[in-house]
Amino acid sequence: MKRSYYIQTLGCQMNYSDSERIDRILQNLGLEKVESMNNADLIIFNTCSIRQKGEDRVFGQMVNITRLRKNKPHLLTAITGCMTRITSTRQDEERDKLLRRAPEVDFVFRIEDLQRVPEIIKNFWSDFQIPEIAEANLASYFQINPAYTSSFQAFVPIGTGCDNFCTYCIVPYSRKREISRSMDEIFEECKNLVENGCLEITLLGQNVNSYGLSNLDKKTDLFKDIDQPFIELLKRIDSLKNKGLKRLRFTSNHPKDLSDELIDAMATLETQMPYVHLPVQSGSDQVLKHMNRHYTADWYRDLVRKLNEKIPGIAISTDIIVGFCDETEEQFMETCKLFEDIEWDMAYLAQYSNRKGTFAWKNLQDNVSLSDKKKRWHKLNIILKAYALKKHKIFEGKTVEVLVEKYGNGICEGRSEHFKTTLFPSDENLIGKLVKVYVERGREWQLEGHMITD
Ligand code: 5AD
Ligand code: SF4
Repeated sequence: MKRSYYIQTLGCQMNYSDSERIDRILQNLGLEKVESMNNADLIIFNTCSIRQKGEDRVFGQMVNITRLRKNKPHLLTAITGCMTRITSTRQDEERDKLLRRAPEVDFVFRIEDLQRVPEIIKNFWSDFQIPEIAEANLASYFQINPAYTSSFQAFVPIGTGCDNFCTYCIVPYSRKREISRSMDEIFEECKNLVENGCLEITLLGQNVNSYGLSNLDKKTDLFKDIDQPFIELLKRIDSLKNKGLKRLRFTSNHPKDLSDELIDAMATLETQMPYVHLPVQSGSDQVLKHMNRHYTADWYRDLVRKLNEKIPGIAISTDIIVGFCDETEEQFMETCKLFEDIEWDMAYLAQYSNRKGTFAWKNLQDNVSLSDKKKRWHKLNIILKAYALKKHKIFEGKTVEVLVEKYGNGICEGRSEHFKTTLFPSDENLIGKLVKVYVERGREWQLEGHMITD
């Protein structure tokens, strides 16, 4: 009988993209993908450690694993993603701490070691025929051809890791040092996607602006003589418009690395959408300093002014953390003030979560009470809602182009050029189509209108 697997993916788009590579490996091993943990012989959690809640969700699943194992002794459970540090099994002498904390788990793997997974599974399931697969010998897991979930939209990782060491963030410890994929490899992946009908590509990395510029990148010849590798990459991918590419996006950015030249490129490249995610984290210079962010609130204001000047109407979203170590009420009010100055289209608001191993965990005090964190979050959320509505109202009476992603109950849903969720009625399922929509109403979280046919 065929064996099956289930992946639960948590966290950012990078994890979702990684899961598409895990899919490929497991499918090539002859395993069948199932949509419920209850029917799987292998369960993989692709995890996020950014906040404690994400980790708790995984540990919370362990009772289910114990229950399922009672009727299925060969059940395998694995963890990958940001919670893992060392690729190892329960039998290994040097093993990941997670295996001690969660005895229900059989093995954990760093995503960079994905090619080793077939061998690990083979050792557990000696009774089961596992074929040799070519992917096991690839030099980097990025070279694995993903089993894309969509044919018209794709996430393409351009690197992994982060060298920025923001004091609150676990990513530099989980994903380790920043390293970029070669431009040729990324271009080939994009070309292949576009030749197969992909209309929209989103480039992914912890900090895409420093693509090709990390310390590890400098040790290779790959980016020698290229002054601004990220801009070069955008230009190369933009050339795929001749083959049908319509939209290019990228995330995430660090404000300190968003250069004037990059803004110029964004303003001129045809496939580049008028939207950028630019995490600010706080509006207080003192807090930004504690966070090791390398800019001030005024510097960020100036950057946004340049973006608005060069790309009129550009939509900008951000990430904000409230209740970081030592954040006073006055400093929090500076964040509220910055919101009113910038008028972000969207903001992802987080209450500070103390992450073991980070600089803040070692050296600063997580001293803003939970109730104050909550209060600040709610206050900022009210401001966010007001500006989200204001920014959506701007589109009333205008026509936007929507790439349809969902269809149900006679309603199509997709994103506009400015990354606005847009809904419109349709008798036809238009998933994968780019259509023009006349916006009748802007609401807090979406635009609503009707399709225009010409
Ligand atoms: N606590 C709360 N939010 C965090 N983020 C990163 N680390 C933490 C943390 N320890 C948020 C930041 C970042 C986003 C991906 O997650 O806002 O931009
Ligand atoms: Fe974390 Fe900062 Fe790196 Fe973003 S830039 S992944 S917040 S350390």
